[in-house]
Amino acid sequence: MPLNNPAYNYSGQQGYSNVDAPYSNHAFSSSTWLEKEQARNRRSKWLLIGGLVGLIALIAIGVGVGVGVAKSHSSSSSSKKSSGSSASVVNQTDPNDPSTFQLDSRLKKSFYGIAYTPEGSQLPDCGNSLEDVITDIQLLSQLTDQIRLYGADCNQTALVLEAIKQTKVNMTVWLGNYPVPTDPAPYERQRDAIIDALKTYGTDHVSGITVGNEFILNYLNANGATDPNSAVGNAGAQLLIANISDTRSAVQALGLSKTLPIGTADAGSFFNSEVLAAVDYGMSNIHAWFANVSIDQAAGWVDEFFQENNVALAQTLANSPKMYIAETGWPTASKDVGNESNGPSVASEPNLQQTFLDTFVCQANNNGTGYFFFEYFDETWKDQEFGGVEGHWGLFYSNRTLKDITIPSC
Ligand SMILES: *[C@@H]1O[C@H](CO)[C@@H](O)[C@H](O)[C@H]1NC(C)=O
Ligand SMILES: *[C@@H]1O[C@H](CO)[C@@H](O)[C@H](O)[C@H]1NC(C)=O
Ligand SMILES: *[C@@H]1O[C@H](CO)[C@@H](O)[C@H](O)[C@H]1NC(C)=O
Ligand SMILES: *[C@@H]1O[C@H](CO)[C@@H](O)[C@H](O)[C@H]1NC(C)=O
Ligand SMILES: *[C@@H]1O[C@H](CO)[C@@H](O)[C@H](O)[C@H]1NC(C)=O
Ligand SMILES: *[C@@H]1O[C@H](CO)[C@@H](O)[C@H](O)[C@H]1NC(C)=O
Ligand SMILES: *[C@@H]1O[C@H](CO)[C@@H](O)[C@H](O)[C@H]1NC(C)=O
Ligand SMILES: *[C@@H]1O[C@H](CO)[C@@H](O)[C@H](O)[C@H]1NC(C)=O
Repeated sequence: MPLNNPAYNYSGQQGYSNVDAPYSNHAFSSSTWLEKEQARNRRSKWLLIGGLVGLIALIAIGVGVGVGVAKSHSSSSSSKKSSGSSASVVNQTDPNDPSTFQLDSRLKKSFYGIAYTPEGSQLPDCGNSLEDVITDIQLLSQLTDQIRLYGADCNQTALVLEAIKQTKVNMTVWLGNYPVPTDPAPYERQRDAIIDALKTYGTDHVSGITVGNEFILNYLNANGATDPNSAVGNAGAQLLIANISDTRSAVQALGLSKTLPIGTADAGSFFNSEVLAAVDYGMSNIHAWFANVSIDQAAGWVDEFFQENNVALAQTLANSPKMYIAETGWPTASKDVGNESNGPSVASEPNLQQTFLDTFVCQANNNGTGYFFFEYFDETWKDQEFGGVEGHWGLFYSNRTLKDITIPSC
């Protein structure tokens, strides 16, 4: 069984990622960045052989040109709250008070954290609403007390903090800023949105700010390189570190009484040491499914990969950034039959996601691993833009109905 072994080079080649761009990519269609990506085809897959055990991991990177993403968000009407409506996924005792939501006995607060992107948060087609985000927070708060966001466009930071305020739930958020290497504007726009939200809502419900999402992976891919600690990787690192430092200064200028940690998130095999030396925490995407690991081995593989690659690397650095698993999970379906399996890893509902839940969640809690289960609900826009399993990682369907799974009780 292809578990990592400690001899495996940290800067090495095991990597995989799913698609979690917060934007519809045509927001950047004029950029040379995207042109390069398109020239490389929308999806590149690298098969890379590593270590004694010869594990080959798959990297699936998708960059697509989004069309009509906002049009895919019509399912939001199913979440409208009115007590007595059979369409309600969450009922409130008082329809005007989101804090009076009724608990769903199938949901259990078993997760360390959950990855969340509010529906309709991809530029330029912002289509999110406070009402939907309130529904999401009502559901999420029954599963976990912390969530992480990927970006800050479409007012999602304020919407989430406002929803937490109105629902009065015990929830903290790891805010996200998703910079683009070739354009300073997205970073600055999101920084300003985050700073504004902190001014409005304070930090009681904020755990930290994650600057960068798969930045190094994307930078390497766009520049024809694979090693995150190569010269190319270090060049990308300087761009990202500039944004990290800038966020630190902007947060410091607020004179908050609480120190907010600043971190970054990347694919499991794509941590650059200089970036990690500049952050308080790192979050790592680790997906057994993309690494062709079978479901019965998946939870142990994720844990071992994380410990042997990410935690071990962080411990070699003077600042010892705290490491989290930014994303891990298992898809339940594929848009097309051809992509339903990836070697021995098979996307299916409900058994396989159920097995991953049963073997990962409580076990990771017990051994003190901080992780964000991927993800809250199926993202329709990903299914449309990227196909394959990309739109099918949710605990809930896109209409916010729980899948045919049993949430483990820890
Ligand atoms: C909300 O209330 C309606 C009407 O009583 C009911 O049909 C529906 O199942 C409830 N939804 C939930 C999630 O409890
Ligand atoms: C962002 O969301 C907050 C919370 O709902 C709201 O008060 C604010 O007006 C929104 N800002 C914009 C620009 O939509
Ligand atoms: C709220 O969440 C924090 C973790 O974020 C936890 O330590 C605390 O016990 C929770 N409080 C309540 C009242 O559930
Ligand atoms: C943020 O990073 C982008 C590229 O990744 C860069 O163009 C921009 O200058 C940076 N901005 C700051 C304030 O560091
Ligand atoms: C930690 O959790 C993983 C599942 O995430 C499990 O496979 C592993 O055995 C656990 N490690 C220890 C030392 O308990
Ligand atoms: C992983 O699965 C893909 C798709 O089935 C296949 O092309 C690839 O060879 C597999 N890799 C390994 C190491 O099994
Ligand atoms: C689906 O499978 C085809 C053929 O193997 C492949 O070219 C394509 O990249 C896959 N799509 C996704 C989203 O994995
Ligand atoms: C939600 O979506 C799932 C999957 O498409 C479907 O089976 C279910 O009937 C839908 N539920 C509602 C209430 O629309």
